[in-house]
Amino acid sequence: MENFTFYSPTFFDFGRGTEKDTGKLVKRFGGSKVLLHYGGGSIKKSGLYDRVIASLKAEGVDFVELGGVKPNPRSGLVYEGIELARKEKVDFVLAVGGGSVIDSSKAIAAGVCYDGDFIEFYRSRIVVEEALPVGVVLTIAAAGSEGSPNTVITDEETKIKSGATGEVLRPAFAIMNPELTFTLDPYQTAAGATDIMIHICERYFSNTPECTTTDRLCEALLKTMAYETPRVIQKPDDYEARANIMWAGMVAHNNICGVGREQDWASHHLEHELSALYDVTHGAGLAVIAPAWMKHCVATHPEKFIPFATEVWGVPFDSINPMQTALEGIKRFRDFLDSIGMPASFSQIGAKKDDIPVMVDRIFAKKKTEGHYIELTKEDVTSIYNMVADA
Ligand code: NZQ
Ligand code: ZN
Repeated sequence: MENFTFYSPTFFDFGRGTEKDTGKLVKRFGGSKVLLHYGGGSIKKSGLYDRVIASLKAEGVDFVELGGVKPNPRSGLVYEGIELARKEKVDFVLAVGGGSVIDSSKAIAAGVCYDGDFIEFYRSRIVVEEALPVGVVLTIAAAGSEGSPNTVITDEETKIKSGATGEVLRPAFAIMNPELTFTLDPYQTAAGATDIMIHICERYFSNTPECTTTDRLCEALLKTMAYETPRVIQKPDDYEARANIMWAGMVAHNNICGVGREQDWASHHLEHELSALYDVTHGAGLAVIAPAWMKHCVATHPEKFIPFATEVWGVPFDSINPMQTALEGIKRFRDFLDSIGMPASFSQIGAKKDDIPVMVDRIFAKKKTEGHYIELTKEDVTSIYNMVADA
């Protein structure tokens, strides 16, 4: 295991009815004037918007609001948010929604405190050192942004989707009521579950030896997701299954499963190109890319694919032909994704084979290799994209 630091100060308020605590938590974490940030309307339809406002008013917390965050959030709305927050002298950003709303909120929170253009955090990977506090009322289990120090934004000028990071971006609090996720449709539920599973895989497929604590944590989370996801697709209001998925989504990405080990992230970077070009739902793009990445890597580097198969997918170990075990694990994962309605090919997400060279060039614009479990070359990445472009 490698040396590491881990500081995860988010206060989690988990369970039924917890959104009633919003106003109290904003005050507890120093907010007196809030920018309430949300998406395209799901929170108004579900009544959550009214409940959050009632909670802010009950505590005498003043607020202004900015809705309209789109999935794969854009830079344009962030500029609007920064301007509004400065004009209104906001001291706290409250994200009510999913990863897109949270990431847009984090971008605003960082931008308000920065003299330059906030987009530099994303273009130049400058670490964010100062930001307004962000609070979250989570409505979808997926991105894990409620516990992570990361934010992902699509730069509307360059059409590039990229991340920025900074420990100050970990939310001050996250309200997590599994009931708020009952209204998700099966596609968003499955895409969220896929994202959660790939957050774990990006950490699990690592060359750092002897990380048994995090290896076993990763396997437990993957097994939980494989068990609970079909249950919520069958029965969207299954509270216990939703609750387990929601907490798994946070644990998958606040990095408790990634400390002390090299991480991969190639699948995410290949997927971000799809989201940027075709506005693909992030988890659905990952469902296309990650199994292809696995098939590409297993040929030369089967080691971690064996416990992935035996511990997560229950494949019996074939001592005569261990590669068979590894391949069967990947097949069961792909079958699982099919069973929850996730896509497997470019044609299912509207992506075009002709764009592969553009995506590859963008990935390698500032680096020579991609990922770590195997350091992928341009040829490797082209071949992974081609595998699913032809599927
Ligand atoms: O906009 P509204 O109307 O709220 O609808 C949303 C949106 O259309 C809807 N939705 C959310 N909660 C709902 C609901 N519909 C009904 N009932 C509810 N309870 O779901 C749609 C998707 O929402 P979004 O916030 O985009 O989903 P998700 O949480 O998957 O976030 C995806 C974004 O997060 C980024 C992705 O790249 C993508 O841009 N990521 C952020 C990470 C981070 N900050 O750490 C890590 C991830 O790897 C990921 O890259
Ligand atoms: Zn993700």
